[in-house]
Amino acid sequence: MPKLIVANWKMNGTLSEASTRAAAIAAGRAAAKVVICPPFPHISAVSAALKDSMVSLGAQDCSPEEKGAFTGDTSAVMLAEMGCQWVLVGHSERRQGKGETNAQIKAKAEAAIKAGITPIICVGELLADRESKTYAEVIKTQVLESIPTDSSNYVIAYEPVWAIGTGLTASAADVAEVHALIKATLPKQGIDVIYGGSVKPNNAPELLAQKDIDGLLVGGASLVPADFVAIAKSAP
Ligand code: PGA
Repeated sequence: MPKLIVANWKMNGTLSEASTRAAAIAAGRAAAKVVICPPFPHISAVSAALKDSMVSLGAQDCSPEEKGAFTGDTSAVMLAEMGCQWVLVGHSERRQGKGETNAQIKAKAEAAIKAGITPIICVGELLADRESKTYAEVIKTQVLESIPTDSSNYVIAYEPVWAIGTGLTASAADVAEVHALIKATLPKQGIDVIYGGSVKPNNAPELLAQKDIDGLLVGGASLVPADFVAIAKSAP
């Protein structure tokens, strides 16, 4: 199975930068399964830049609702219509910054699946959870309460909050331990579990060499096409 390498551009860049960056990533022709999640207003331009390439399109969030009076929200159906095949749900910047709960994240994942989009469900412990050694329980609860009830069409992204954008990466052995725990917690086998948190070209090869690490979710380094392509190409 090729590894899944996902770019999360967060709220960065201009429209023209998004097009240029997407085209540069597509031209990198990595053998991994590559996905780009641009900000909502850049989805159309990125979609055009990725036309005829092997790189897929994703989004950074979706509403749990299909339609209606939800000002500012974007439904999974709308994302599907734009050509998105993937969507991040439950990123820690939404869990922490917007107070999203496991129940809301599960509803978003289910809405995505209903629209034909694969959700990438993010989980991860705080530094305090790691230091107090309660991280295994925290992650298990997040996983069990955030996954859809009747589908195995999803991916889990393990992103320890303390490693996101900080330059601190969990060691490959620590990540592999948590991924094995997540796989043992999931009700079905065969679900991909990817890692995110300060992934760079220099730490990607060791992370990707672990058997339980099925791919990477890359923030900061995905804004630099050469770095992101190098990360994608380091997949075995
Ligand atoms: P980072 O972000 O690679 O900048 O740490 C990862 C993420 O938040 O998905």
